[in-house]
Amino acid sequence: MTIKPFKLERFYTIHEFTAKYLLCSSDCEAMSIGDLLVLEDGAKERFENLWLGYTETKGNPILRQDISAIYSTISADNILVCAAAQEPIFLFCHATLKSKDEVIIQFPCYQSVQSIPESMGCKVINWTVNYANNKPELDLDILEKLITNKTRVLFLNSPHNPTGHHFSKEEQQAIIELARKHNVLIFCDEVYKGLEHSPAFTIPAFADAYENGISLGVMSKSYGLGGLRIGWLASHRQDILEEIAVLKEYTTICSAAPSEFLASVALRNRAIIFKKNLEIVQTNIVHLNTFFEKYANLFTWFAPNAGPISFVRMNFDMDDLAFVDKVVRDKSVLLLPGEVYDYKGYFRVGFGRRNMPEALTKFEEFVLENLLK
Ligand SMILES: Cc1ncc(COP(=O)(O)O)c(C=O)c1O
Repeated sequence: MTIKPFKLERFYTIHEFTAKYLLCSSDCEAMSIGDLLVLEDGAKERFENLWLGYTETKGNPILRQDISAIYSTISADNILVCAAAQEPIFLFCHATLKSKDEVIIQFPCYQSVQSIPESMGCKVINWTVNYANNKPELDLDILEKLITNKTRVLFLNSPHNPTGHHFSKEEQQAIIELARKHNVLIFCDEVYKGLEHSPAFTIPAFADAYENGISLGVMSKSYGLGGLRIGWLASHRQDILEEIAVLKEYTTICSAAPSEFLASVALRNRAIIFKKNLEIVQTNIVHLNTFFEKYANLFTWFAPNAGPISFVRMNFDMDDLAFVDKVVRDKSVLLLPGEVYDYKGYFRVGFGRRNMPEALTKFEEFVLENLLK
């Protein structure tokens, strides 16, 4: 297999563990195993007695049950547990696509949904975000024109990395009707679900809303538990989940038993975890609104209604990668350049971490010293 290097992950490999202030993280504040286990009576003792044998390829039945509880029409049989979100994207593509198939991707995107189909000889067609109104918008009439009789999968991501865009219920319904009309599968990456900034912005999972929908979920982002490396696919298309499970026997076979146990505890206590993370996000958004209002001539910021990330447009003439490089070199503050998404002139900010205000203060120092001289 020939596949392009993953630009975002390459960039993170260089900086994630050396930059002092991460101002572009897509995951929320993590927690310790101890802090997680105290959320449930008896969990510590059960964890210590956990049997460290193999678990089931489809995932521990208790975990699948706990995951299914976050959906409205999905049962444990409609869940396949995987290694975080990367493995299921990879396996889904290999289970459903073949050379010359066409896929449509919401662009810019988390690179996997672009590069994996490309590596398989598929034609990848961009459904590109429009920033004409200073906020990310997607045109459904354009989407319909992109669909052909070769279109097999529409890859969506809502809430979206990197723009923070999130579909409304009406848009979701209209997209599903289009997909149904043209018999297209919808794979929706919902790794930021659960972090809607108000309940009014919650939309159904695509797996619940569409008979040919596949929803991707993970513990890494809204839950802030990336170290568990637990993710899953939810779908009524059990035939597809079955094919993916067969492929999984060539990748991870099954997940780590301790991670499955801890993920279950987190899912059962998700209200507490989401409350903590949402409080951080909402506090940080206030700081960001103030900051970007103050420097509106330099940056255009879009405050999203869901998730912990957004894209910021640079209103001055400097390459985004050179800018981000200088910021991290001078102040040890990490931003994510549009370059890693092949979408120049922007950078991503992340606001799910507790120390974001401190990182923003350091970034402001940079702005004052370099852009306002
Ligand atoms: C939209 C999206 N999908 C998938 C992933 C991969 O998640 P994980 O690291 O849990 O595999 C990410 C990580 O940044 C992401 O932003």
